[in-house]
Amino acid sequence: MNKVMFYSRKPLPLEMHKVCIVQKTNLKPVERRVEAIREAGFNSYRLFSDDVYLDMLTDSGVNAMTNGQLGAMMLADEAYAGSMTYKKLSAKLEELFGKKLFLPAHQGRACEHVIAKAFVKAGTLVPMNFIFGTSAAQIELMGGKAIALLDTKGLQKQSDEPFKGDFDEARLEEMLKNEASRIAYVRIEAGTNLIGGQPISMRSMLRAAELCKQYGVISVFDASLFQDNLHFIKTREHPELSIREITRKVADAMDIIYFSARKLGFGRGGVIITNSQEMFVEMEQYVARYEGFPTYGGMSIREMEAIVVGLEETMDEDIVSQGPQFIEYLCNELQKNGIDVITPAGGLGCHLDARKFVPHIPLSQYPAGSLAAAVYIASGARGMERGGIDEPWPDPDKEPFGAMELVRLAVPRRVYTVSQLNYLVDRLIWLKQNASLIGGIRFPEGSNRHFYDRLESIGDWPEKLAAKFREDFHDSL
Ligand code: F0G
Repeated sequence: MNKVMFYSRKPLPLEMHKVCIVQKTNLKPVERRVEAIREAGFNSYRLFSDDVYLDMLTDSGVNAMTNGQLGAMMLADEAYAGSMTYKKLSAKLEELFGKKLFLPAHQGRACEHVIAKAFVKAGTLVPMNFIFGTSAAQIELMGGKAIALLDTKGLQKQSDEPFKGDFDEARLEEMLKNEASRIAYVRIEAGTNLIGGQPISMRSMLRAAELCKQYGVISVFDASLFQDNLHFIKTREHPELSIREITRKVADAMDIIYFSARKLGFGRGGVIITNSQEMFVEMEQYVARYEGFPTYGGMSIREMEAIVVGLEETMDEDIVSQGPQFIEYLCNELQKNGIDVITPAGGLGCHLDARKFVPHIPLSQYPAGSLAAAVYIASGARGMERGGIDEPWPDPDKEPFGAMELVRLAVPRRVYTVSQLNYLVDRLIWLKQNASLIGGIRFPEGSNRHFYDRLESIGDWPEKLAAKFREDFHDSL
């Protein structure tokens, strides 16, 4: 919550921290940016940091840490088994989430792997509010199927709906009623990554968990993006509850909670917690086999110390509100200038609607991928394609319902300043005015078409775009 009003009434987000350590970044000339994106195969994942001015690819593992976290890292008790740091993190998790049994893993998808290994059998189903790539992949690897049961309001790109991540609870109930024996578990994702980091309401989370109990199905809560979601529950649904109370209320309803500590907890690693001894034992064997001894599970012990502090910091409203406020500012500035973004502003980042930005690029030429490359050329900022490259359609000629072509401009927490966001807005306004110069991209013949593979531009539009940049910005970077 922004507690500070400006006399000018400008809706500026205000940092609730001071900067202790900084890292120099480079802004390379536009000609080099064209070269760099060509070298990267028009895929922002393949750019190297040296060529990137604003790294807005993700909020994963790149959030700024506090002096408290960095200091705590020196207290790490390095032990292969029985580290006191494991005990410390376990105690913090129990204090905040009320779960006594803790399994570490090296990151979020490793938690998903362990959970899927333990509970998904061939032919089983995993309903969830929305699909996320890494979780669906683990479920499919075990022969199961992930099923999205999102309320249709979540797929409206622009609305003022406060909780677009909510379940279609009627469909969830029907599925549980008719097919409970085939359901491995229900996965509840808060916030909801692929629809624009949109929050799910506490009401919908609790309802989903209650239905699971009623039909004897395990509830699994993916809390990776819970930090931003906490802010939205606090500001849009339950202002009377503290962040700590919201955390506990949600956690108490769930059988298993896991998260990527690259996002929640301002560190790097993965966490699985539960109160069920039976479920714990089922999962523990796979942590030992795939991750590491179950008191470190592939995590660096130093990061565990940092997460103890990072989780406690997450209970502070000043801290959890920073990300959403910066994202809202960026979204508002872009919208004011006629650039369509997913609304309302959610967590994680600002999401550009590529189909509106470059309506002349057909879906077969990846509008979001093309726009992500153009954004990099125009600004040196790298975002992430969230569309047909990231989630290929089963039938490339048939557009699935609600297909989104988005460019995600993630806002890593406490990393970038308002002037850097203003710079980005300026370059995006220019790009929008020159959007007709942006062309499509394609996978070369014989490519595997993975989201991290190389693509190529169709024609020399990148050079033409750079030439126009030079004309308009003279010798500016
Ligand atoms: N669940 C959610 C909701 C996520 O957003 C992610 C990661 C994971 C699980 C997997 O965690 O990366 O630690 O293995 N999202 C990253 C992103 C990759 O950029 O959105 P991980």
